[in-house]
Amino acid sequence: MQVNRRRFMQYSACAAAGALLGCNSPKQPDEEAIAYQLTAAKKKFQLLPDRPATEGVGYLGGPPLRVLRAKQGQPLRVTLDNQLGEVTTIHWHGLRLPNPMDGVPYLTQEPTADGEKFVYEFTPPDAGSFWFHPHANSLQQAGRGLAGALIVEEPEPVGFDLDIPLIIKDWVIDEETGQFGELTTPRGASRAGTFGNVRTVNGEILPQYHLPAGGWVRLRLINVDVTRIYKVMMKGDDEAEAHIIAMDGMPLATPRPLGREPIGPGMRVDLAVHIPNRIGAQFWLENTSTSSPWKMVNFTAVTSLTPVATDRPKLPMNPIPAFDLQGAPVIPFRFDTGVGEGYLICGGSKTREYPVYWTVNNTSLPKTPVLAAPLETLKKGQTAIFELHNNTPHSHPIHLHGYSFTILESNKRKVDPYHADTVLLRPKERVKLAFLADNPGDWMYHCHIIEHQESGMSGHIRVV
Ligand code: C2O
Ligand code: CU
Repeated sequence: MQVNRRRFMQYSACAAAGALLGCNSPKQPDEEAIAYQLTAAKKKFQLLPDRPATEGVGYLGGPPLRVLRAKQGQPLRVTLDNQLGEVTTIHWHGLRLPNPMDGVPYLTQEPTADGEKFVYEFTPPDAGSFWFHPHANSLQQAGRGLAGALIVEEPEPVGFDLDIPLIIKDWVIDEETGQFGELTTPRGASRAGTFGNVRTVNGEILPQYHLPAGGWVRLRLINVDVTRIYKVMMKGDDEAEAHIIAMDGMPLATPRPLGREPIGPGMRVDLAVHIPNRIGAQFWLENTSTSSPWKMVNFTAVTSLTPVATDRPKLPMNPIPAFDLQGAPVIPFRFDTGVGEGYLICGGSKTREYPVYWTVNNTSLPKTPVLAAPLETLKKGQTAIFELHNNTPHSHPIHLHGYSFTILESNKRKVDPYHADTVLLRPKERVKLAFLADNPGDWMYHCHIIEHQESGMSGHIRVV
């Protein structure tokens, strides 16, 4: 109760401050760049109340999973200080940034060695909910806690009474010792993945938030889990009306009511929630992706904050470049199962041989320890139409770095075209997406179920 109260006060103070930048106290050495330091090191997470803290890895300081706040159009500078004991990088998931800042070992930068630093510097072109994680030994590093949220604020406050990131992550934990179990098994890697058993939001099991009765709150759901596809519903005794206002950080032209929304690893969903007027009203977000649903986060309507928003605030659209589908080639990608062995060279401190369970266009991990050729080369400035075929009986959240594409159509569901950087392919689904290939470089293109990524469902696209 105490903790919750304190957290509520923090958020209230932030909302009152308007810009929200003060909350995480970034150091500002000069006028232009917002600067942070992220030290990657061993970090303890108190996940289970009566058990020893879990010895994981994380970005030091602040809450279990760090939240950085930046501003659209304002330079951001993040210094990675690697104290992990192995190589790492930071990938800025969903950011349309210059290729050398993308954080992929060997493809865009040398991996940062233990004891070394790397400075990431870029100007976020889009406002919205993004996140960051290593792209080296990803399953072990992200799975054990190296992940955080990057909230890019709109230049002007959009008018919510509160703005709360909800970072969703499961942990594979031995419930006796509180320590990590096996993060991957052949059975999991070759099927839907190895699921965590301790389920958290913002590093806490079923956290409780107090929200202003009658107000409008922005909830930023960020799935940083390495495996699980959640299906999120809003439930409660009192109606808390929730609309999806942005997907993967990009505002929807027409917000739609939250029903039962699938959120795959890497994906983000922003909700605008109208808090019930009744003081004490209780409601919660529930995951309904398994046969035994569970509550993820609890909310209570309180009066401590006087709401100022009178109607659902509207988000300004981001400047995603337009494209012309006319005459653009349709490029097929087949996501399939496969068997064999290959070298994982983008993801480990050492080059190691890994089993192959998955393929993209019949390729998987390279057969020799050198970088594979791009899956496809695009001409800078062309419109690319990708047709993704999921030929497997499993779902795959497919992510493309460096771009926000437009999901156009699916053979399985009605699509109202929207921007995204990760598309959840259902079993046997075929999806068409398109984007203007304006950002040159080598861009990873992979499944964000990390066990699938690290066993073959991964490649890159070159734009020259
Ligand atoms: Cu969050 Cu290569 O991905
Ligand atoms: Cu997958």
